[in-house]
Amino acid sequence: MNLILLGPPGAGKGTQAKRLMDRYGIAQISTGDMLRAEVAAGTEVGREAKAVMESGQLVSDDIIVRMLGNRVDQPDCRQGFILDGFPRTVPQARALDEMLAGKNLKLDAVIELKVDDAALTERITGRYTCAKCGTGYHDTFKEPRVLGVCDVCGSGEFVRRADDSRETVIARLVAYHAQTAPIIPHYREAGLLRTVDGMAGIDSVSQQIEQALGPVTRH
Ligand code: AP5
Ligand code: MG
Repeated sequence: MNLILLGPPGAGKGTQAKRLMDRYGIAQISTGDMLRAEVAAGTEVGREAKAVMESGQLVSDDIIVRMLGNRVDQPDCRQGFILDGFPRTVPQARALDEMLAGKNLKLDAVIELKVDDAALTERITGRYTCAKCGTGYHDTFKEPRVLGVCDVCGSGEFVRRADDSRETVIARLVAYHAQTAPIIPHYREAGLLRTVDGMAGIDSVSQQIEQALGPVTRH
């Protein structure tokens, strides 16, 4: 099963992608996570992407499309994948269509997480992750069971993203509405779009996604 998770910054793409990965045994492909790994490793791509990401703008289509083309060939994608944060522009959506056709693959569904802009700022500025295993938390919505200790690996070290400041969130939202939202009609016309109420709680969003995927997973 090959899916796209589409939605503005903070909509819950990463949160839901991890659950889908566990539920269906398919790979999460987050272009944001891949870019952050390049930045941390100090590669040429990372050096180019760092300032762009910290300003809330989008990294160039060329870099992203090249990065993604290699990723879907990895063995963990054999059962399928969830694209989290890609495509994000009309040229990226076109490149994806071509790439999938070239590899004899198809998309099964595009899940759009719909969330009001006002809620997104609160979600993003409250977000943090375990520095060791990457499990995601939130100051208000998802604290660890024991405060300061990761539920999954027990580490006491947490990190916040460099682009999660209030000012950068506004730039990221502007980029979403101007450059990413215009790809939605493309998937609606293809009959692939499933819109989910991303304002609901995390479990309720997962249930809605599962329902939306019902016809796909019953194949
Ligand atoms: P990326 O890493 O993709 O960030 P983003 O799209 O801005 O989205 P986020 O990761 O911030 O949010 P999310 O939707 O994953 O939400 P999450 O689950 O964490 O991209 C970062 C940057 O990289 C871009 O700005 C760009 O520069 C570059 N980039 C990446 N891909 C690119 C591309 N294709 N082209 C060009 N440039 C690219 O949830 C957020 C918080 O809310 C969490 O704390 C979570 O616990 C909480 N939460 C989640 N769901 C709920 C819920 N239902 N109710 C309450 N709280 C919730
Ligand atoms: Mg994310």
